[in-house]
Amino acid sequence: MTKPRNSKQYNLVLGIETSCDETAAAVVSEGRAILSNVVWSQVDIHHPYGGVVPELASRKHLEKIVPVVETALADAGADSNSIDGVAVTCGPGLVGALLVGVSFAKAFAYARDLPLIGVDHLHGHIAAIYLQPEPPPFPFVALLTSGGHTNLCYVEGPMNFEHMGQTRDDAAGEAFDKVAKVLGLGYPGGQVIDKLAQQGDPERIRFPRAFLDRTGFDFSFSGIKTAVARYVMDEKEIAGKIADIAAGFQEAVVDVLVQKAISAAKAKACQHLALVGGVASNSRLRELMTEAAKRAGINVHIPSPELCTDNAAMIATMGYHQFNGGKNASPPASPEPEPWRAGLDLDVYSKTSYSGRLGVVR
Ligand code: KG4
Ligand code: ZN
Repeated sequence: MTKPRNSKQYNLVLGIETSCDETAAAVVSEGRAILSNVVWSQVDIHHPYGGVVPELASRKHLEKIVPVVETALADAGADSNSIDGVAVTCGPGLVGALLVGVSFAKAFAYARDLPLIGVDHLHGHIAAIYLQPEPPPFPFVALLTSGGHTNLCYVEGPMNFEHMGQTRDDAAGEAFDKVAKVLGLGYPGGQVIDKLAQQGDPERIRFPRAFLDRTGFDFSFSGIKTAVARYVMDEKEIAGKIADIAAGFQEAVVDVLVQKAISAAKAKACQHLALVGGVASNSRLRELMTEAAKRAGINVHIPSPELCTDNAAMIATMGYHQFNGGKNASPPASPEPEPWRAGLDLDVYSKTSYSGRLGVVR
């Protein structure tokens, strides 16, 4: 039976994510229960190039978006009659990649008379924490650390974020990827370094930590990347030292992330800290953050690794909060490649409101 579209409660949300190199779709119930979570990774496509090739990413999204969404709906036992709304990542990210997801979501929602909402990818990463068995109560401090972003923010509600700090240059994940390249470990670098570092000595080679202003919450990771590159250039033979270099580099990045995140939680007198984004799947970061938080009397919350890296369940969850947060306005969800636009429209689009405006890109 078709659900009444004027119903104010949006329980079942289809999420769509195509901001970078994962084509993902998921169905989440009441912002808590994952009914399906399909991620089609393009890693093998980009691997030979040592990084994401935007044009290839867009083309692969185009090829995969239909089967991925179909699988997500089938896995959830859902269809367009049971879905209450569609949430799609509209930024930040690669514009061509975003465009595929946003255009698909618009067409899908329009054809089925479903409401559509645009989700900020970074808000989505934070929302991944609500999918944990025991999510943190509000307020909490979130450290969001991914391939494109390193941000600290104070979260007072699902749609209430106070920005505390960010990287001034490279993101932590970007540093992992670039260092992996320097060490000839291939792409993507984070997971490889994480694994290799387990066989290395983190104390043998000490790389610099950039704390910037000790009392501030901004980060900088370009210096450490350069320090590793210089070390590799200066050393005659690194073959026997790669695991130690990886461990030393990882330790330096993790050290800064842990200290800044704990200080941010203390500055807000906050008992709860969430660690989200792709780098939050790093085993050493999870370990040291948990230990440091325990010492400081802070509860640390970290999503399971598959919800740290890009996925659509987090987008559906954020969409659920936006839909039910009572936001409704008219502009269409459009790709927005720029990072962390606090004012990114948290809008609900109904067929009537965006009819005639399809295809408009700001
Ligand atoms: O959140 P995400 O999947 O995509 C972005 O929004 O950027 O994060 C991807 C980043 C990549 O830089 C990747 O190298 C890093 O997260 N990453 C890791 C690990 N797994 C993924 N970094 C360190 N350790 C890991 N285990
Ligand atoms: Zn991401």
